[in-house]
Amino acid sequence: MTREECADRLIRGRRATRAFRPDPVPQDTLEDVFGLAASAPSNSNTQPWQIEVVSGATRDRLSAALVKAYEQQHLSTDFPYRTDLYVGTYGERRRLAGAIMYGAAGIDHDDDDARAAYDAESLRFYGAPHVAMLFLPENAEVRMAADLGIYVQTLLLALESRGISSCPQGLLGFYADTVRAVLGVQNRKLLLGVSFGYAEAGAAINGISVPRAPLSETTRFHS
Ligand SMILES: Cc1cc2nc3c(=O)[nH]c(=O)nc-3n(C[C@H](O)[C@H](O)[C@H](O)COP(=O)(O)O)c2cc1C
Repeated sequence: MTREECADRLIRGRRATRAFRPDPVPQDTLEDVFGLAASAPSNSNTQPWQIEVVSGATRDRLSAALVKAYEQQHLSTDFPYRTDLYVGTYGERRRLAGAIMYGAAGIDHDDDDARAAYDAESLRFYGAPHVAMLFLPENAEVRMAADLGIYVQTLLLALESRGISSCPQGLLGFYADTVRAVLGVQNRKLLLGVSFGYAEAGAAINGISVPRAPLSETTRFHS
C-alpha cells in the first residue's frame, strides 16, 4: 500500500464508535499508541497536554461517579459550552449529525427523555474498557486548546492504525470536578475525554456515516 493509500484509509476509515466490546487493549499496545500520539506537534513544542489513561476498576469508579454527577445535575465545565455557539450552517450540521446518531440508536428526534438517557449512557463510555481524559494547565486558553485538538486527532489515528476504535467526547468535559476528584488531578483544566477499545461489530450505531460539507463551503484557494 502506498503512503497515500495508507493515509486515506486511516483518515477516512476512522469513525466515532459508540458500541464497544469489553475486552481490554493490552498494556504494551497502550504504551505504543500513546507514545505515537505524543509525537503530535504543538506551539513551540510545549506539549501542554496531560493525559490520564483510565482502565479497569478505576474506569468503573469514574463511570459511576459521572453517572451520579449527571443524576445530581452537578455540571462543572472548565471551558464553557453554549449550544448557541452553533448558529446557521453550523447549527444545521449539528442537527443533522444528531438526527443520524439518535436515529441509528432508535431514538425519536423529539424524545428529549430518550436523548438525555442516551447522553447518560455515554458517561459509561459507550461500554469502552478505556477512556483517556485530556487535561491542559490551569491557565490554559484557546491557543493551548488548539495544541490539544491536534493531539486528539493524532491519538485517534494512532488508535485506528492499531485496529482500536474511539469516540472523542466533549460531554465528559462537562464533569471536570468529578473527573479530577476520582483521578486525583489538581491544577489542570479538562477539555474532553476519548473512549476507546475494540468496536462491537454489527452494532447499528457503529455503521453510521456523517457527511462532510463540500470543499467549496469550507476551503478557498488563493493564488
Ligand atoms: C471535540 C469533539 C467533541 C465530541 N463530543 C462528542 C460527545 O460528547 N459525544 C459523542 O457521542 N460524540 C462526540 N463527538 C463525535 C462527533 O459527533 C463526531 O466526530 C462527528 O459527528 C463526525 O463523525 P465521525 O467522527 O464518525 O466522522 C465529538 C467530536 C469532537 C471532535
